[in-house]
Amino acid sequence: MKILYVGEIVAKPGREVVKKFLPEIIKEYKPDMVFANCENLSGGRGITEEKIEQMRMAGIDYFTSGEHIFQEKGTEDFINNVPVLRPANYPEGTLGEGYKIIDSGKNGKVLLINLMGLTSFGGKNAFLDNPFSKIDEILEKTKDEKVDAKIMDFHAEATSEKYSMGFYLDGRVDAIIGTHTHVPTCDNMVLPKGTLYLTDVGMCGAIDSSLGVKVDITIKMFLTAMNQRFEWENAGRKAFRSVLLDLQSKKIVRIDKII
Ligand SMILES: [Fe+2]
Ligand SMILES: [Fe+2]
Repeated sequence: MKILYVGEIVAKPGREVVKKFLPEIIKEYKPDMVFANCENLSGGRGITEEKIEQMRMAGIDYFTSGEHIFQEKGTEDFINNVPVLRPANYPEGTLGEGYKIIDSGKNGKVLLINLMGLTSFGGKNAFLDNPFSKIDEILEKTKDEKVDAKIMDFHAEATSEKYSMGFYLDGRVDAIIGTHTHVPTCDNMVLPKGTLYLTDVGMCGAIDSSLGVKVDITIKMFLTAMNQRFEWENAGRKAFRSVLLDLQSKKIVRIDKII
């Protein structure tokens, strides 16, 4: 089975590069399923039904997310009607689902899991269950399900936490793809017990920016310590970031494009 994992789609430039590159990448590599992280899809933070649909039309089957998932007003009204996961270690009672068995018929069945790390989320981590014990719980609950692959999006800041999760799950899931930093890493590898691992797939979006945000705004913020209203960069170069997981031949290959 082959899965294409697309990095966080950040605002309009992110949506543009997905529409431009994804259809031709699907044609060339023929993945059985395509996943992407959507937490920055709409206006840089959060999602709308319309933009999820646009990305589905471009070829994405299912989405994971992170701490921005409920940022757009009204998300709670449709979160259960869209193919989107929110972090599984959100508190009991949070709307939406944190993991899901996705059955694509002839292309196979995948258990997709979304978890958030504990480090650096500006206080939001105070609400989270421990992702290490949560993944144990999810794997135990789903152990009798017949799936072709188990794939996890670990949405986390700290590389130490991501590596610890990688080795904690080595041999227990097929792949762990990191998201959240928006910066692609080149450590795609097979862990000793066979799990495919990547610290961060990076973002789809404007790269002449600070993680998608206009740099004059972020520089002012760091110079003065004054909070700034973020605006998302539309100009300059744009990157499409993704990784192709070949689960049979145990290969994990970056597929990046820049315009
Ligand atoms: Fe993000
Ligand atoms: Fe994030």
